[in-house]
Amino acid sequence: MTTQSPVEHFLSDYQPLSFAIDDVFLTFELQPTATLVSNKMQMRALQAATQLWLDGEQLELLSVELDGEDITASCEVSEAGMSVPTAGKKEFVLLIRTRISPQDNTALEGLYRSSGNYCTQCEAEGFRKITYFFDRPDCLSLFTTKIIADKSANAVLLSNGNLIDSGDLDGNRHFAVWQDPFKKPCYLFALVAGDLACHQDRFIAADGREIDLRIYVEPKNIDKCEHAMQSLIRSMQWDEQRFGLVYDLDIYMIVAVDDFNMGAMENKGLNVFNSKFVLAKPDTATDVDYEGIEAVIAHEYFHNWTGNRVTCRDWFQLTLKEGLTVFRDQEFTADMLSPAVKRIEDVKALRNNQFPEDAGPMSHPIQPQSYIEMNNFYTMTVYEKGAEVVRLYHTLLGEQGFRQGMDLYFQRHDGDAVTVQDFRNAMADANHVDLSQMHNWYIQSGTPVVSVESHYNASEQTLTLNFRQRLNTGNEDFKPLLIPVRLALFDHSGQALVLKSKDPQLKLYADQNHEGLFEFNKPQQSLTFTEVSAQPLVSLFRGFSAPVIVEFDQSNQELALLAQCDTDSFVCWESIQTLALREIKRLVDSYAEKTNWMVSEAFTNAFSALVKDEKMDKALKALALSLPDLTYIGEQYEVINPDAIYHARKFLQQQLAQQNIEQWLKLYSELNQSTEYRYHKDDIAQRKLKTVCLQYLTQLDDYIELAEAQFDHADNMTDALASLQCLSHTDTAARKRALGDFYDKWQDDTLVLDKWFALQAASHHIHALEHVKQLVEHKDFVYTNPNRVRSVLGVFGRLNLLGLHRADGKGYQFLAEQVIKLDALNPQVAARMVGPFTHWQRYDGQRQQMMKQALEMILAQESLSKDVYEIASKSLR
Ligand code: ARG
Ligand code: ZN
Repeated sequence: MTTQSPVEHFLSDYQPLSFAIDDVFLTFELQPTATLVSNKMQMRALQAATQLWLDGEQLELLSVELDGEDITASCEVSEAGMSVPTAGKKEFVLLIRTRISPQDNTALEGLYRSSGNYCTQCEAEGFRKITYFFDRPDCLSLFTTKIIADKSANAVLLSNGNLIDSGDLDGNRHFAVWQDPFKKPCYLFALVAGDLACHQDRFIAADGREIDLRIYVEPKNIDKCEHAMQSLIRSMQWDEQRFGLVYDLDIYMIVAVDDFNMGAMENKGLNVFNSKFVLAKPDTATDVDYEGIEAVIAHEYFHNWTGNRVTCRDWFQLTLKEGLTVFRDQEFTADMLSPAVKRIEDVKALRNNQFPEDAGPMSHPIQPQSYIEMNNFYTMTVYEKGAEVVRLYHTLLGEQGFRQGMDLYFQRHDGDAVTVQDFRNAMADANHVDLSQMHNWYIQSGTPVVSVESHYNASEQTLTLNFRQRLNTGNEDFKPLLIPVRLALFDHSGQALVLKSKDPQLKLYADQNHEGLFEFNKPQQSLTFTEVSAQPLVSLFRGFSAPVIVEFDQSNQELALLAQCDTDSFVCWESIQTLALREIKRLVDSYAEKTNWMVSEAFTNAFSALVKDEKMDKALKALALSLPDLTYIGEQYEVINPDAIYHARKFLQQQLAQQNIEQWLKLYSELNQSTEYRYHKDDIAQRKLKTVCLQYLTQLDDYIELAEAQFDHADNMTDALASLQCLSHTDTAARKRALGDFYDKWQDDTLVLDKWFALQAASHHIHALEHVKQLVEHKDFVYTNPNRVRSVLGVFGRLNLLGLHRADGKGYQFLAEQVIKLDALNPQVAARMVGPFTHWQRYDGQRQQMMKQALEMILAQESLSKDVYEIASKSLR
């Protein structure tokens, strides 16, 4: 912890290693507050040198031996590491012994304890808190790990690779030795020890090998592993089929822990997971949880090839493995559930979370140029925008071309630590195309804005689309991006037109030339279609073919038609969202006269038609009927007025509830048939649409009892939580009663209790802030558990627009105090909680003042972590 201008690391400073660590033999003698780590490294000089520098933090150094000779006294130790004299040797063995205290490690980085068990988290730079090492991803070594521990408390001893030896020792201790046959960087190292139960299955790989699959959990959770196991099996199958990638070890282990800073970690052969992404039973987990588990299990499994077998040269290349692996898990989920629904959900998440990040002071390219604390760059930009950029290659090259690129990437780089350029070169070379312009997506921050104008010439029968691009950061020396625009034209009866154009940058897809792909790669470009007999409807950015903001002035009537006729579900959904957004914006802009608020008839008619539509897929219908999220509405404004936005959306919701009341009731009762819970896309869709009905119905006081009834009779967590959420926004006795019952029932289930905390933290109740203040005083609130902290402080900051932005500034004051308190325990998680303050420029003058004050108050703390320092200071500059 420091406030003295922490070191900033730059991509441009990259230097190759001067020494290799070929083999590492680690020995851990586990003790809660005094674990001994002995680290024996077989090293080799790659350049002439007489000294080496090893990273190391918060370690108690016991001794250093060079080829058996004690050189402890001649090593220079600092807060960040140590320099070791090597006497100019070319090959040598370095043995370093240190002592650490996992019990006191509340930062949850390095070796720590969770529920009495030992576990590790080394990515990005946590290995240096275990021992001295080249803690950087381009140092690839063979690891052997010996674990020695007390037998009764630690029956299970795990590390990466294969178990090669085990046995008993004196003093009721035992040991296990694990050897990983694959070279890896230290961020993929893992160790787990404790009292764990194992859920086991097997998988026959494409090459006929039988893989032993194991999920380790606390014994009380052993009945909640089957969904995770099936998800793993489906992931293994899918990666073989889609990418020809087969698992490479004979054992695959997943360990679930309650205290975890992020979602999960892809350590070689031994994934460590936040228990939230493993444990599920119908009565404890919602559809969203089930889907999250399936996706995260897949994500970490897919990392075995994209991340582990081919890893990153340095942390600036993080999107190489994360963007690619997110793209892969998105494709997997699309195949498991519904491609159309998954695409819309991902676009929503990108717009709600990544767009604001990219429009704020923490905006960075998917390949950042510098960092103070790497953990701060595990962002929506690196992950989700990174995945969108990978998707661009897929869109440009097609499934087959993309696969050829992937095959070449593995052929060239298996076993290496590489860069995003290497990935791009593989994609380009495998397809014999020039993709160099794609580089601009990696080096520029901000969201691209594409404005489109359409001109129809009746006498020539031509349609011309004029495209322009810029960045929303207003960057002067902006470098034009290669933007694939998938498009189609429809006549006013809803028929798709056969596209005719001589433009060489338009590729027509085989399916009867009804869709085209336009490669838009200059600041300005136009595209002309011929033989267009009447002014058509233009369907642009089908499937959200690029992560951009589109400015295209279509009339309400055109949008309503597209919503009905477009064969692309994304454009259908988008058209309805845009109509709703226009309605909300009109209300927001007349907030001062809100007593005269009215909803336009055109919109209510279009909306009612949608509610009545019986042909539409239920999941898509649920998405279409949901109004744009508050954050996304906020994004439309330079100055966000929280009250106006909240009340406008609420007003529209109430009007739409009232005007369609018969239909909502009919639909709700049709959907409210209880059948045994199944994780299946049809059932998920039914529950989702039912929830949307209930959300509208409970806008009206008369129907709050429907939510109560659903809550009382629900036999699965999805239905129970949906109804409780509806109640949580009301100011009723039912709310109090249901929250009380829920607590009584679930107080011993940590993950379910997180939901109870989160609902209240997100509630639009008038006393939301007072409630949240009570929540952090609650006996079940613990600052050391990241899930609990995120459930209350994370949710409050992200979703409680009214509570956080209270005009009296008390919301800001509260959050700032909490950040400070948390920073002393867990800097990584504390830094995430600063997020809401970084958007201060987007609020009115008074709120700006108060938000900046909160940031200054945080920065004034004496021993601030570099995690929090980086976010707070960068957002003020
Ligand atoms: N590589 C992990 C994943 O993609 C994320 C781990 C990041 N952890 C951290 N402390 N920054 O799922
Ligand atoms: Zn990942």
